[in-house]
Amino acid sequence: MKLKPITALELRRLFIDFFVEKHGHAEIPGASLIPENDPTVLFTTAGMHPLVPYLMGETHPSGVKLVDVQKCLRTDDIDEVGDPTHLTYFEMLGNWSLGDYFKKEAVEMSYEFMTSSREDGGLELPVSHLAVSCFEGDDDAPRDEDSAEVWRSLGIAEERIAFLDKKENWWGPAGQTGPCGADSEMFFWTGDLADGSEEPPAKFDPEDERWVEIWNDVFMQYYKNEDGTYRELEQKNVDTGMGFERVLCILNGVSTPFETDLFMDVVEAVRSLGGYDVGKAEPSEEQMLSERIICDHLRAATFLIGDRNGVTPSNTDQGYILRRLIRRAIRHGRKLGIEGEFARKLAGIFVNLYGETYPELIDSQEKIYEELAREEEQFGKTLEKGLRELSKRDEGEMLNGEFAFYMYETYGFPVEMTLEEVRKDKALAGKLDEEKFMKEFAAKEAEHQKKSRLGAEAKFSGGLADDSEAVTRLHTATHLLHQALRTVLGEHVQQKGSNITADRLRFDFTHEEKMTDEEKAEVEKLVNEQIEADLPVHCEEMSVGDAKKSGALGFFESKYGDVVKVYTVGRAGSSEAGGHFSKEICGGPHVERLGELGAFKIKKEESSSRGVRRIKGILG
Ligand code: ALA
Repeated sequence: MKLKPITALELRRLFIDFFVEKHGHAEIPGASLIPENDPTVLFTTAGMHPLVPYLMGETHPSGVKLVDVQKCLRTDDIDEVGDPTHLTYFEMLGNWSLGDYFKKEAVEMSYEFMTSSREDGGLELPVSHLAVSCFEGDDDAPRDEDSAEVWRSLGIAEERIAFLDKKENWWGPAGQTGPCGADSEMFFWTGDLADGSEEPPAKFDPEDERWVEIWNDVFMQYYKNEDGTYRELEQKNVDTGMGFERVLCILNGVSTPFETDLFMDVVEAVRSLGGYDVGKAEPSEEQMLSERIICDHLRAATFLIGDRNGVTPSNTDQGYILRRLIRRAIRHGRKLGIEGEFARKLAGIFVNLYGETYPELIDSQEKIYEELAREEEQFGKTLEKGLRELSKRDEGEMLNGEFAFYMYETYGFPVEMTLEEVRKDKALAGKLDEEKFMKEFAAKEAEHQKKSRLGAEAKFSGGLADDSEAVTRLHTATHLLHQALRTVLGEHVQQKGSNITADRLRFDFTHEEKMTDEEKAEVEKLVNEQIEADLPVHCEEMSVGDAKKSGALGFFESKYGDVVKVYTVGRAGSSEAGGHFSKEICGGPHVERLGELGAFKIKKEESSSRGVRRIKGILG
């Protein structure tokens, strides 16, 4: 079976155009990888994530039928990366109905996009290779005969429809509460892609991995409450997610994304840096594993640093994950025999490959290269220090997995490297019981993780319902802070990033110098004066052009669709000075009156990166 090949750029375009041109959807720009107003997750893990307020009923300025490409990051199976299919960073293609169409139209459009010819704007997948699954029903929601019936009417054979339970055919956001619902998933038979063998079996077996899931239509009509029960949402929504990398593989007849145009140049560069260029011998399994880890992790790192809410390596939250990704990539680079600094070279290739679709990477390329180089240098020092420390240790410690965890915890020295040192020493190697060693390490690590998970739960206590009110208040406070900083420090102040948890706001902005105590006090005073005046908050919808003309702040050009929401604090509709305190393009949500906020306080003012300061603030 050979399908019509496609490039990454073409595939994104094909999907968007299909829904825009044939089915009247509005294309919206993808959101940041770092969620802005959601304390429940570190990263955007699915296309629906940034759209949760709209699934819950808030009006979206671009309408009720939307389509987008969303960058996502999932780190739950970071340890699986290196096998042929797992990725941390990936893209999701999605079409959305916010209370507009439901199951019938969603399934019909999915079918049309999958099967119609390339000339007609579809993927041209043969129906002979398709199978679907639907929700089998339980106490919370009925069996999804509706979707199955639509699939049948389109010609999907009965034995190609599987009914599965909640574990498989139900989708909700990562947090414990939120919009969710039954879903219908689409699978493609890949058994014969490479060599024409293994024709698709008549019956769909969801356990057979040659049936690869490519798309998921979620029918979001419920909300999962904190106590685990479900209630019906006011509007019935559709959230779909098509696996961009997977579809790219299938259409190009390859079994891993590392063989597609998303990675090919980087793989080649890794091989040439490691000195085992293709043409000599095929890389070994182990080399291939390292190549994939390097490619995946450095791509994710490039996107994390280059995001408009970009993060830098650190020991907490997103920064910690970023650090882990970079260090793991570097470690595998060493394994492949790559000498010297290499992370930023590979990042440069990603910036070129992705820059057209994600211009933020081009804008922040210097920062990406600097951060990677700095982390690589620091990690180099960490390794040296760890090695020095190890050389002082006795045999008992060297052979003990618990001690290896101590080395990791204290010096950041990876367990694999401790093992390598043991193996290098003949006397020690003879006495090593690797299984016992790794068990000891894992037990210590699990104990540690349990402790930090408890810490994280405590941090987010209160549940999403309460949290989201706190987040909304802090979000409005962020607008006040932004304007106050511009008033006190000057108009050069621009928002560079924002992150809000239930406990605090974090705001990054352009400004060179450390703020003085007087400046901080003045900013606090200005914010609190507005709160005390209990100013109202208004929302209007308008075109980006009109928003700009009205003097609304908005610095993330590529983020906006054609129609935007503009939030004004103070008198609405007025562009004269004094008519309002702040006016910004923003998706919301916000409080209605500032009186709800309570007193604002700056807890910390520090450097975030060169020319960018960071404020952490709270409402008391
Ligand atoms: N939100 C759905 C998913 O991630 C589409 O699979």
